[in-house]
Amino acid sequence: MHKSVAIVSSKLFLVLGLAAALAAATARADEVPAPTEAAVHLDAATPPAPEQVAAGKSIFGRQCARCHGFNMVKRGGIAFDLRKFPPDDPDRFVHSVTKGKGRNMPPWGSVLSMTDIQALWAYVRSNHEDQ
Ligand code: HEC
Repeated sequence: MHKSVAIVSSKLFLVLGLAAALAAATARADEVPAPTEAAVHLDAATPPAPEQVAAGKSIFGRQCARCHGFNMVKRGGIAFDLRKFPPDDPDRFVHSVTKGKGRNMPPWGSVLSMTDIQALWAYVRSNHEDQ
């Protein structure tokens, strides 16, 4: 009698442990948003919403300006001039921002949410300049 209770409770423990491990794994997976086209609603034809541009500008000032320059203007740096980023390629933007690029562009997938990245995209797109 005593023994079977012990077995049942150890099985319960195992199940709870697995559930916790699974929840932890799911939480981690959520932190790195999958860069899908569907996640970025802003196609080139739709102008970005002003409040999204403003949110993006503020994130940019905190996280990106030290390399890409305030207002995306920086002379003589090695960072990409984001005013020239193709405005019709949100996939490339999301991919480069979440995963990083080369040796000097850090990955932001575990720092920024998809909402942040969409706001950044709105800001970058709103500041686009042709060559
Ligand atoms: C530590 C410096 C640094 C910071 C901070 C930084 N970047 Fe970059 N970024 C770079 C460099 C350098 C490149 C050029 C990488 C290359 O082409 O090898 C780059 C390239 C890019 C590109 C172009 C990638 C492509 O597809 O060619 C985008 C978009 C970009 N950065 C966005 C951002 C955004 C948005 C932020 C803020 C969240 C940011 N970066 C923060 C250094 C930085």
